[in-house]
Amino acid sequence: MAELNILVIGGGMITQQVILPVLIDEKEKGKISSIAVASRRKDTVEKLSALFPQAKIKGYPEKKDSDPDAWKIAIKELERPAVVIVATPDDLHAEMALTAIEQCHHVIVQKPLCLTVKDAKNILEQSRKNAVYVFTDYHKRHDLALRAAQYKYRKGELGEVLCGHAWHEQRREIPLKYFRNWCERSSPFEYLGTHYIDMFYFITSLLPKKVIAKGQKKLLISLGINAYDSCQAFVTWSNGAVQYLQTSWILPEANPCLSNQGFQITCTEGEFRADNANRNSNFSTTKNGYELFNPYFFKPYLDWNNLEKTKYSGYGADSIIQAIDDCLEIAQQTLHLDRKKALEKRKELINKFEKTRPLPNQAIIATSVIEAGKMSMMKEGKAVVIDKDFSLYYE
Ligand SMILES: NC(=O)c1ccc[n+]([C@@H]2O[C@H](COP(=O)([O-])OP(=O)(O)OC[C@H]3O[C@@H](n4cnc5c(N)ncnc54)[C@H](O)[C@@H]3O)[C@@H](O)[C@H]2O)c1
Repeated sequence: MAELNILVIGGGMITQQVILPVLIDEKEKGKISSIAVASRRKDTVEKLSALFPQAKIKGYPEKKDSDPDAWKIAIKELERPAVVIVATPDDLHAEMALTAIEQCHHVIVQKPLCLTVKDAKNILEQSRKNAVYVFTDYHKRHDLALRAAQYKYRKGELGEVLCGHAWHEQRREIPLKYFRNWCERSSPFEYLGTHYIDMFYFITSLLPKKVIAKGQKKLLISLGINAYDSCQAFVTWSNGAVQYLQTSWILPEANPCLSNQGFQITCTEGEFRADNANRNSNFSTTKNGYELFNPYFFKPYLDWNNLEKTKYSGYGADSIIQAIDDCLEIAQQTLHLDRKKALEKRKELINKFEKTRPLPNQAIIATSVIEAGKMSMMKEGKAVVIDKDFSLYYE
């Protein structure tokens, strides 16, 4: 049986809260033989090792206190079959993914795949050339409340989509606390908007054609941070449907959940409307006050077989597990093949996965919309056209 070696690059919020708990469970199931984490600072990895002793993390940087290139050494030392999980600020994804692809390692990238069409095309081309699996973690595809919309839409029950809207807004702790170092290099539209752009494609299979976007800078700039507070975009899709996206990351700390979010589409034969924050399962406690609780994303539960143990479950895990299982399938099916035959087999499998997974041929769609949105915001809402080959130009 093949087992995977995993390298996580980035030791921040998502690595601590989601990726490592998932990897530990998958290791226990026998799918993973080793876990390494490369972050910028040695003490970040030491903290993770102390929090998750059962992961037996091999940490980078090994000697220096801080090394922004430690991940390069970690990739070089990684033994195949391996998966590199990129969990760093959005603007660093492309270089890290491309380096892993060059070494023929499979890759899971936290959303978005990258911030520019140029980088997405490069990743697509290189991953196909080396027959490497590159999955973007668009976990909302695994939220059954949204997946149901894909089912009914593709079965024709909703008719044809005409328009829709999505809102995704987070508490101000995101730019003020977690992403203070890199929020100026991103925006609510790129960081959050990407989810429901991918969702529109996932449900309808339509392609984006034009983006008009605006952004506001009031609160964060008054606190010395030159980043957008909020962004809005109109995206026109290939059948003429229009989607309005509203994103922000300055909700008050008192908001009863980290993210207010939801998705709606109006179609010729019906409508779909989902509040993806309020799942009607809410807590009120002395410790946390009133909490809108989403049990479906990624939450701890008591293990069915051992009530002393905690197990995490939800679509946040399912997405990563899907990619791990795909990589295992590739590793298993190429285990005893020579180089040439293994390459052919990997090409065949990746060709299959490309049809249904957020591999670069699909992830480029949301990347094209967020780059077009950024271009439009910078020119006060000037329309940006997305061509058939995803090249972008001002109308
Ligand atoms: N799937 C999800 O639910 C979800 C949620 C939040 C964030 N994200 C995405 O995950 C990624 C990481 O987000 P986060 O919330 O963990 O951010 P974060 O800022 O908490 O963590 C980023 C980490 O990357 C590290 N890093 C920065 N430069 C590095 C370098 N040169 N080498 C190695 N490590 C480096 C930082 O030190 C930090 O540990 C982003 O792309 C974000 O959009 C996904």
